[in-house]
Amino acid sequence: TKYSCGKGLCGSCTVHFNGEAVRSCVLTMEAASGGEVTTIEGLNANGEHPLQIAWAEHVVPQCGYCQPGQIMQAASLLATHPDPSDEEIENAMSGVICRCGTYQRIHKAIKTAAGGTS
Ligand code: FES
Repeated sequence: TKYSCGKGLCGSCTVHFNGEAVRSCVLTMEAASGGEVTTIEGLNANGEHPLQIAWAEHVVPQCGYCQPGQIMQAASLLATHPDPSDEEIENAMSGVICRCGTYQRIHKAIKTAAGGTS
């Protein structure tokens, strides 16, 4: 998990807090106290989460910097929308910036992980 911008603007620091995607760089220790935090390392240690498999299949990362945040944001989306529409994917993922422009591969990988084609 990256610290990244430190202002909650880029999304690279995204983790799950009590099951929801949050920007960890602006989550204070006080606010997190007693809650459950899942980082990219905790998503699936064996790399067997459907998103991790789809990410590899679509060769999504370029430099890789944003990818922990991308996957954690996508995992949060699929937890609440197991078969998301294109619009739902775009809306959910719009706050996680990829300076390498891997957005199309991210979108395809989410569709694959959700059981769609792409
Ligand atoms: Fe380089 Fe997203 S893969 S910033």
